[in-house]
Amino acid sequence: MCGITGIVSMNRNNIGEVLVKCSRKLTYRGYDSVGLAAVHNGKVELRKEVGTIDEVDKLLGLSKMLGDRGISQLRWATYGAPTRINAQPHFACDDILFGAHNGNIHNYVEYRQELVDAGHIVRSENDGELCVHAVDKYYEQTADMFEAVRLSIRDLKGAYAYTVGRADMEELYAVKMGSSLVAGLAEHDTIVSSDLPSILPLTNNVVYLQDGEMLRLTPNDVEVFRIEDGRHLDRPPETSTVDEQAAEKGGYPHFMLKEINEQPKVAEDVLGVLQGSKTEKWLKMIEDASRHFLVACGTSYHAGIVGTYYFNKYAGIPLIPAIGGQFIPMYGNTLTDDSLSILVSQSGETKDIINVLNLAKENSSFGKTLGIVNVIGSTLMFGADAYIPMACGYEVSVPATKTYYSQVIIFAYLAALLGERNGTLDSSEAKACIDTLSRDLPRLTQDTINRTGIHAKDLARTLVDFKDMYCLGYGFTDGVAQEGALKIKEIAYNHCEGMYSSEFKHGPLSIIQDGYPVIFVTTRENSWMVINHLSEVRVRGGRTIIVGEYEDKLRHYVDSGKDYLVVPASNLFLNPLLNVIPLQLLSYFLSVDLGINPDMPRNLSKTLTVD
Ligand code: G6P
Repeated sequence: MCGITGIVSMNRNNIGEVLVKCSRKLTYRGYDSVGLAAVHNGKVELRKEVGTIDEVDKLLGLSKMLGDRGISQLRWATYGAPTRINAQPHFACDDILFGAHNGNIHNYVEYRQELVDAGHIVRSENDGELCVHAVDKYYEQTADMFEAVRLSIRDLKGAYAYTVGRADMEELYAVKMGSSLVAGLAEHDTIVSSDLPSILPLTNNVVYLQDGEMLRLTPNDVEVFRIEDGRHLDRPPETSTVDEQAAEKGGYPHFMLKEINEQPKVAEDVLGVLQGSKTEKWLKMIEDASRHFLVACGTSYHAGIVGTYYFNKYAGIPLIPAIGGQFIPMYGNTLTDDSLSILVSQSGETKDIINVLNLAKENSSFGKTLGIVNVIGSTLMFGADAYIPMACGYEVSVPATKTYYSQVIIFAYLAALLGERNGTLDSSEAKACIDTLSRDLPRLTQDTINRTGIHAKDLARTLVDFKDMYCLGYGFTDGVAQEGALKIKEIAYNHCEGMYSSEFKHGPLSIIQDGYPVIFVTTRENSWMVINHLSEVRVRGGRTIIVGEYEDKLRHYVDSGKDYLVVPASNLFLNPLLNVIPLQLLSYFLSVDLGINPDMPRNLSKTLTVD
């Protein structure tokens, strides 16, 4: 949620153009409103409006704004409706001190009142404005911007990051207190941002920050300090190897379609990581624990659900799944120091997951944490006892696709190795699992995309008018069906509920009437059972749609070939990885047919750093 970018340059005058170019790369973080504050000849000009960065740029000419330093912000609204006045950046009381934040200020109500009582002119209902006033308050007391920023965190409770500047100073400051923040050191510019993609157009010399640290950006230096005592920290830049092209559409109409098509390559890349030397450490962590929890949100949770089936069948290890926010209320009291929580998060910043991470760090009786994370430099990556990188490159589209796929491969691979080590599988069975991943998966994934693409497009045309449907799975396809349903909700705005297919008769069956669509995601192993569930819907007039391998006996349960999305024949081990692809494509085409941009679904953000 929300993306902030700040740039200080040595000699450029076109700060608007550069800030727009860089912060456009953070579009997946928020598109409710956009603002840009540019300092030119000692004066700050602030332009902001409701809309996406491209819309607001067109309307207000953001990229034409002159100056040598400035701050931009892309907002995903929490405190204060998505209006112009609540858009960021904000000024403090006059038009000298300006800034923007990402995250939430939890003491918003009390602190806003305190500031108003002290005479501050607070114009908006947005909590980001309070960051700027907090710095202003301490600047009035100290006349020292460094100290004002450092002291501001005494007043601001919550999880956030912000950046601020003054018209009469050449530097910008930024703090990291629970939300992500990275900096970059280019030849003629320094930059701070919520995420790496907006740094990469300027440089791949990257400085990662930890919570409780602050930055001073001058035209030629990025300095890191500990907020607590103001101590300077030696933090030389690292060279990022992330490919900037990952944040380009590369000829595809949408990032989502590009990322679906990247999955064969993701298979190769993540298997490369898993075949490396660190896998032994991850296996050992899992073996050393006596209880195993799986904690994740959204798509990552669905991948985790699939992971629990792999761990059960192939590794003989019960993995207990919990949604991020549910984990502590549900299991917190029963955790022991030999528990292992596997925290799965594409962004590595999802607040519900970071809350668990922080509790685990504070409390040794919570046991250990193993992250499965995509974004390098994220809070989860730094904070977990160990982490497995998803090796997907940047996923830009808000609906996750290739990261789900990578997460499932990780679970499958680990389950096969663990199973061999603990005797659940004999070595030939384990070898067959690993071999099919490396030998068959990339090819079959490409085959699935090729085969089901047109078909999913045709099917989507027949489903656009249905505002309500179900997507059901059984056994290994449980998480797959839930993921398919989430995709349809996210980007087609049509309600689709993901459910276990044997559970459907316990209530939801009453919704079935003539033509009501229900998608069944099948595996060859379970189709005998799913036939019962298909029949229960069909005899009541429902329209049954099947996703899975072709089986003659299933063909009778669809009205036409259109309603049978056939994936290539494989095996149970690969099935959850292939079956999800037609569902990704179906949701994509539904979204496009409905005139929605699937990369930017309304009300959503890819990185949710709020509770
Ligand atoms: C948000 C995104 C979802 C994502 C979920 C978990 O809700 O819109 O697409 O699955 O967060 O994200 P994570 O980064 O933790 O995997």
